[in-house]
Amino acid sequence: MISYGKQSIDQSDIDAVVEVLKGDWLTQGPAVETFENDIKNYFGAKHVCAVSNGTAALHLAGLALDWQPGDIVITTPLTFLATANCIVYAGATPDFVDIDPVTYTIDSNLVEEKIKIYQSKGKKVKAIIGVDYAGHPCNWKALREIADKYDLQLVNDNCHALGATYFDNKHYAVKYADLVIQSYHPVKHLTTGEGGTVLTNNSELDERIRRLRTHGMTKDNSKFSIQHQSLNEPWYYEMHEVGYNYRITDFQCALGSSQLKKLDGFVEKRREIAKYYDKAFENNQLLTTPAKSDNVNYSYHLYPLQIDFEKLSLTKAQYFKKMKEVGINLQVHYIPVHLQPFYQKNYGFNTGDFPVSESFYMNEVSLPIYPDLTSDDVSLVVNNIMQNISL
Ligand SMILES: Cc1ncc(COP(=O)(O)O)c(C=O)c1O
Repeated sequence: MISYGKQSIDQSDIDAVVEVLKGDWLTQGPAVETFENDIKNYFGAKHVCAVSNGTAALHLAGLALDWQPGDIVITTPLTFLATANCIVYAGATPDFVDIDPVTYTIDSNLVEEKIKIYQSKGKKVKAIIGVDYAGHPCNWKALREIADKYDLQLVNDNCHALGATYFDNKHYAVKYADLVIQSYHPVKHLTTGEGGTVLTNNSELDERIRRLRTHGMTKDNSKFSIQHQSLNEPWYYEMHEVGYNYRITDFQCALGSSQLKKLDGFVEKRREIAKYYDKAFENNQLLTTPAKSDNVNYSYHLYPLQIDFEKLSLTKAQYFKKMKEVGINLQVHYIPVHLQPFYQKNYGFNTGDFPVSESFYMNEVSLPIYPDLTSDDVSLVVNNIMQNISL
């Protein structure tokens, strides 16, 4: 069965993990710091904190940015649940802004409109979380301008866009956002099994995130209560706010460092597959391929194809079934978050609130795209997509 995404593990990855397993450290050993440094170098960040998964990274981002009950945090409905859930974890109020119909990322014009609507009611938006959906960076220049103009915090949920460039810059994520979070789940561009990071150029945010990753503990005596600062007790630690155990293990980080060495090649392979799909589906009235904006080099975590099911005599479910019969497991990314019963019940969202995301969801299917997909697999996908289109 060909699925929409899959990890690519070779002998060098296995050797890297086995080496750590034979050593003294399993949890927070030297491989964690090495991985953090590798991520720092690749993405041009001053600080990187590796954590147990991308959801933990989002949770820590909200805590470090001091989101509180009553704060309004805006994101896109076209994302995985975790992006919006981290706002709920903080007790803050989630709101959404629809996507741009071409880039499928949050529409920066609508973001500003929404901020102004809140302003007119005497309310201030605290933060925006942009999501580089499918590997296409958001309009970060516009979002940064808005963040500066209205004094908001800016977070990049960068899980889909490892290896993407924005204005020829691979370091764009920390350049524009105050905090950047990544996930290394197996379907992502590189994997640590479960795993994630928070990247930032702000040392205070990084220090706080590091404490919160380990229960809120500090062993830095300059942070101790005055009476303990000069005692030099080697066992001593303090906790000033509650944190979590969001640590990642040493052997996961060894895998991450080994995978990162191959990231450029992985992204190249994804781009080749995307190019093949683009060519195969161009000029077809029923199909819309993902658009590439100027100044963006897509890294294709996903290949979101839109099929006009209304014009086709098949429903999306029937289409999925037909593709599954020939061994192709399609996916959908995503059911817009505001359509989830939890968000409707607790925050009053309704069908129709974000029409661009909703119509995108009606049509979208995620085609298989990952480095180990063979050219035969890709042809099989194309042939079957076309065959079922012509019914
Ligand atoms: C956009 C986005 N944000 C957050 C996450 C959460 O990451 P993780 O699965 O590592 O917790 C994911 C992963 O699926 C994601 O796609």
